Amino acid sequence: MRSKVTVVGAGNVGATTALRIQQLGYADVVLVDVVEDLPQGKGLDMLEAGPVLGSDARITGSNSYQESADSDLVVITAGIARRPGMSRDDLLLTNMRITSSVTEEVVKYSPNCIIIAVTNPLDAMVQNVYETSGFPRNRVFGMAGILDTARFRTFIAQELNVSFEDVQALVLGGHGDDMVPLVRYTTAGGIPIRELMAEEKIDQLVRRTREGGGEIVALLKEGSAYYAPSAAITQMVEAVLLDKKRILPCCTYLEGEYGINGLCVGVPVKLGAGGMEQIIQIRLTDEERAALNHSAASVQELVDVMHRAKGDGTG
Ligand code: NAI
Ligand code: 2OP
Repeated sequence: MRSKVTVVGAGNVGATTALRIQQLGYADVVLVDVVEDLPQGKGLDMLEAGPVLGSDARITGSNSYQESADSDLVVITAGIARRPGMSRDDLLLTNMRITSSVTEEVVKYSPNCIIIAVTNPLDAMVQNVYETSGFPRNRVFGMAGILDTARFRTFIAQELNVSFEDVQALVLGGHGDDMVPLVRYTTAGGIPIRELMAEEKIDQLVRRTREGGGEIVALLKEGSAYYAPSAAITQMVEAVLLDKKRILPCCTYLEGEYGINGLCVGVPVKLGAGGMEQIIQIRLTDEERAALNHSAASVQELVDVMHRAKGDGTG
């Protein structure tokens, strides 16, 4: 029997993710959006590609959550995206309201599902979805680290003129300009990149990775990246549905790991049928730890704004 995945938000990220999942063939997909007829139209268009692609997966669009009932996994992409001149943080309170209402519906219709949150500002939204859902932390986590890591891997592979596949990297922290690409854990064909590249070049690629989202926004002018983000989400979906036990950087609720307590931040985790099955703790240098704490402090600021808005009724 195929699994059931709901994707909330039928915009650029949501629709491309739904398409990628449908193409895998082992999950039926429900696409939900508030815009009338939009998810139905996109869903039908994707379904009609099934005979050509050889996928029997069913995909339906809806403006309500009834069709999403008993999903195994729900991806939340609903919200507004960045435009030029906006940071991810500018989206905070609008997307907080949207993700709160979406989460309430998701929990009502799929009380046993696993949720992957994607809406920005990512770490604060994962925190909001986690708190609103009341689910245990293994069933609510967020996508950002795979995307940030993929950008870093791309830039390194281009620079070294080697296969993208052979470059492995790890990016920790919040999905903001102070994310923490860990150079020490970055390799090409198993060789640490410091053996292959000058320090100034590495610094330049770290900067480009940190500003990677903004680079795409400036080029697209309307909206933000979605091809690489949807590929990253699909990798997480696949890890869960196929119980792959992949070690991937994801945003998860920390309870003392890495010295951080009560906050959602990106760290390496094991993803499998149980969702976020384990937080992988690695030793950090003093400098890396300071960078992670700095990034976590930026996330904490947003979470505090969100909690205040909820507390004083503006949320
Ligand atoms: P988009 O504007 O193309 O699509 C957003 C969709 O959400 C729209 O179709 C809109 O109608 C829908 N929506 C709004 N309120 C809703 C509600 N209450 N219920 C259901 N649907 C609702 O935006 P895009 O490019 O798809 O991005 C979506 C979100 O994902 C943004 O917040 C963006 O910043 C974020 N994002 C996060 C990434 C990450 O690495 N975590 C990567 C790329 C995007
Ligand atoms: C990105 O990094 C918009 O957060 C999204 O492309």
